[in-house]
Amino acid sequence: MKDLINKIKTDGIALNEDVLKVDSFLNHQIDPVLMKNIGDEFAKHFKDLNITKVFTIESSGIAPALMTSLKLNIPLVVLKKQLPNTLIDGYYSVPVKSFTKNSIYNLTLSKKYISKDDNILIIDDFLAYGEATLGVINIIKEAHANIAGIGIVIEKSFQPGRKKLDSLGYNVYSLARIASMSKNKINFIKEEWFYKSFFFYSFHT
Ligand code: G4P
Repeated sequence: MKDLINKIKTDGIALNEDVLKVDSFLNHQIDPVLMKNIGDEFAKHFKDLNITKVFTIESSGIAPALMTSLKLNIPLVVLKKQLPNTLIDGYYSVPVKSFTKNSIYNLTLSKKYISKDDNILIIDDFLAYGEATLGVINIIKEAHANIAGIGIVIEKSFQPGRKKLDSLGYNVYSLARIASMSKNKINFIKEEWFYKSFFFYSFHT
């Protein structure tokens, strides 16, 4: 997605080979116009899949996921990282290891907000090791609901998350795919360029 990639180029900061700082527009200060455009893009991409709910994880997934659910006119469900005191009825909970933050948390969802008839779109801000997304997938599977697709704002393609989800056969759509990073340098996967040159080459040989 062009305006997201431009924003990452102008305002994102590669702290090192692994971590991209995007706190000026995605996860500390939030750019609402960019979030709206992100929501519109996910909604357009997944619109024909009869999605019933958008799922995300607190906290940075909420802004893009809310905009997506607004455009699709369906509820957003936010999975919690801690068991809320108010969650007294039944709930699902799975442990998730965060490699980036070197921590473990229990991803939690009230049984009230999922049913076996749900067809769910998972939206998250980052795809790194894929453990958070796999945690959401495990909860959805435990509830016997369906996973229609996975929308990711920024995919760090050099980390194992995307490969894990592809190998499990999920329909993943990432708006910005980062091939590699080094301090102050971010290299994107040039998919448009790749496909254009592929078709040009096919038609001219
Ligand atoms: P995963 O999400 O693919 O499982 O990977 P990982 O466990 O490594 O990432 C966990 C957390 O680290 C997530 O935030 C994710 O958004 C964040 N993260 C991963 N890579 C980057 C990065 O390059 N830059 C930034 N800024 N964050 C990154 P979280 O723990 O869910 O916290 P929250 O920010 O959503 O509250």
